[in-house]
Amino acid sequence: MKTIISVKEMQQWSLQQKAAGKQISFVPTMGFLHAGHLSLLEEGRNQGDLLVLSIFVNPTQFGVGEDFEDYPRDLKADAELAAKAGVDVIFAPPATQMYPQGYASWVDVEGITEVLCGASRPGHFRGVTTVVSKLFNIVQPDIAFFGNKDFQQLTVIKRMVIDLNMPLEIVGLPIVREADNLAMSSRNSYLSAPERFQALCLSRALAHARQLAAQGGVKASEVLNAVREMITAKDLTRIDYLKICHQSSLLDQEFIDADSVLLLAVYVGKTRLIDNGFLLD
Ligand code: PAF
Repeated sequence: MKTIISVKEMQQWSLQQKAAGKQISFVPTMGFLHAGHLSLLEEGRNQGDLLVLSIFVNPTQFGVGEDFEDYPRDLKADAELAAKAGVDVIFAPPATQMYPQGYASWVDVEGITEVLCGASRPGHFRGVTTVVSKLFNIVQPDIAFFGNKDFQQLTVIKRMVIDLNMPLEIVGLPIVREADNLAMSSRNSYLSAPERFQALCLSRALAHARQLAAQGGVKASEVLNAVREMITAKDLTRIDYLKICHQSSLLDQEFIDADSVLLLAVYVGKTRLIDNGFLLD
């Protein structure tokens, strides 16, 4: 396994491999790898000839007062996990190479970035789509893997790839959960023991919502009220948003159908957690 930090070297390596007819699988991350990332790497390993993992805590997708400085980092542990997962190249550029002095170009997807996490975190998706476009240009993947946990991010990236005619396939993979159903996230490491316990209300609320939806003919508002009650019953939680949206337009839905996704963002203590799931099979 190779570690490359130079943007130029990474791009040259990829162009050479592609000229030799190799298919490149790509898993972009911000590091602090967990089982969710490993599931992406495993699928990447299965689907391409070569597997590239990027580790870059992207400053432009964090707002003022967010956790950019505190975001957990452990390159050594990540490299060990990556080697075990069969990664060929870790690309870990410094921010000064990704955003050198004079940097002035941005990729912006409109509409679907203005709701949900986009409403709570203005500018977040502009940072994501910009860095992901740059990474695609540098790594030149044939196929890139993202987790369904960041459902809106995946929807936005799929839209960008279609709209900008980017020549690669985007694959979304299921949320990986802890044994007690908490969705895996690098940010779970921020939770104290009581917060970690109360954080279970997110996945429980999703399960309850699915049960209600399965009864048929249920209004979205009824499900949202039930879910809101479950979450507000916990004293360490604060709801950022709770929405039932259409899976691709991300518009609010009045009635539940096969396209309905429940999306939640909840602060548990100071940690903002997200989770989501389809309401009907
Ligand atoms: O999901 C993430 O970890 C990040 O948003 C991504 C896609 C690596 C872009 O920085």
